[in-house]
Amino acid sequence: MKQMNHYIDSVFSSQDHILEEVLTSIRENGMRSISVSPSSGKLLTMLVSISGAKHVLEIGALGGYSGICLARGFGEDGKLTSLELMESYAELAYSNLSKAGFGNQVSYMTGPALESLEQLVNDNKQFDFFFIDADKENYENYLDYCIKLAESGALIVCDNVLARGTVAGESAEPAQHTEFMKKFNETVAEHPQLESILIPIGDGMTVSKVK
Ligand SMILES: C[S@@+](CC[C@H](N)C(=O)[O-])C[C@H]1O[C@@H](n2cnc3c(N)ncnc32)[C@H](O)[C@@H]1O
Repeated sequence: MKQMNHYIDSVFSSQDHILEEVLTSIRENGMRSISVSPSSGKLLTMLVSISGAKHVLEIGALGGYSGICLARGFGEDGKLTSLELMESYAELAYSNLSKAGFGNQVSYMTGPALESLEQLVNDNKQFDFFFIDADKENYENYLDYCIKLAESGALIVCDNVLARGTVAGESAEPAQHTEFMKKFNETVAEHPQLESILIPIGDGMTVSKVK
């Protein structure tokens, strides 16, 4: 899986100074290097762009890498709402989105995402694209909220669903989230309101269309 991803990244993702600076800023701030892979980021840009989404909700901002990739897909009239537990991470992400030219198109809600999602439901907000990439234990809860907040035809993308290949038995040692992800993938695949597929790029992404 590692070798295949390295190959895809090397052939399909060109040098990107803006995103490289984001990765440097994450390291310099002592944060974990857990942004999406270059190809996963490119896939996000393409999915937003192909779907024509303009109201994007992200769960898990970290330093803004995936936020920039999402914003690159929606052009000048799109808006990104990003939910992040840590105030200082949201500040770094905002600074990086601003440097990339998207400062006026992004807003952050900090604190536990479940509380922010409840607030968005109470405010009758709707979105046409979702990217879930926060604490894995809450993926099913996040999925339920995203479906509540979705316009018909919206896309929901979830990262890390292969749990480093362990969901498919690629390693003898299960990873921390293997069982969560196996169950989550089955829920997504069988969900009556979703049509879904898993794309094995990066750590695996499910892409679901809300019926
Ligand atoms: C894998 S990182 C996100 C990476 C980011 N999407 C990217 O690719 O650039 C996960 C993020 O989720 C945040 N997070 C963890 N638990 C959370 C929660 N309960 N509510 C909101 N955010 C949470 C973490 O602080 C971390 O920044």
